[in-house]
Amino acid sequence: MTSPEGGTKRDLVRRHVEDMIGAGLSPHERLPTERELAETLEVNRQTVRGALDELEREGVVYRLQGAGTFVSEARISKSFELTSFSEDMRARNMRPGSQSIDLQVGAAGQTVGYALGLSPREDVVRVRRVRTADDIPICLEESTFAAASVPGLEGGIEGDSLYDDIRQRFGLVAVRADQEIHAVVLDEEQAAALQTPPFSPAFLVRRTTYDARSRPIEYAESVYRGDRYSYQLSITRP
Ligand code: GLP
Repeated sequence: MTSPEGGTKRDLVRRHVEDMIGAGLSPHERLPTERELAETLEVNRQTVRGALDELEREGVVYRLQGAGTFVSEARISKSFELTSFSEDMRARNMRPGSQSIDLQVGAAGQTVGYALGLSPREDVVRVRRVRTADDIPICLEESTFAAASVPGLEGGIEGDSLYDDIRQRFGLVAVRADQEIHAVVLDEEQAAALQTPPFSPAFLVRRTTYDARSRPIEYAESVYRGDRYSYQLSITRP
């Protein structure tokens, strides 16, 4: 099993390599050696190897025995776009909307603390909203931010788009996210908020969003109605 520490360090290596590629390394250019990366980032070589294994599986880099690790021609992840709910709905020619149910400050807890790089006792702001498209409730969303990064957000969101608001008020710009999608059924409370029968199928999306320096900004859990939402991915061969 991966310890939180091991996972965090491996993520650090991954982000460092992804940032180097993003900052202008060309396809087929060689990356620093495992030893160099380990020294620069002050982690052990096994952690570097684990991170490079992951990036290789995802098609971001490739290795040639005895020659090193190189930048791949194409990145699978490039074909996925990081969008806000509002952008997502506009792209489908629908009018996005938002109703805040609850805004609160409280302790992060284990899962959110881990995602945001906080201790479980540190304060976060939780924003619960129902998201609508053409006034139909589509999604129930809980977004969480380190309280120190969004002072006063608990007082309310300006406008319908949280991403627009945190960019304008706090300079937080989401550029990358890790996202997992699970199949779930709605419990009674969720179903009532989404005006749909209990136990209807839905998608649960867990997203951790990062800024350009790979610092986590937001952890969000969004539940989308299965009868009103679908995922569209454009995928390319590595
Ligand atoms: C999506 C993401 C959320 C994010 C939201 C922002 O729904 N899953 O993590 O908070 O977009 O959307 P908007 O800017 O429209 O509020």
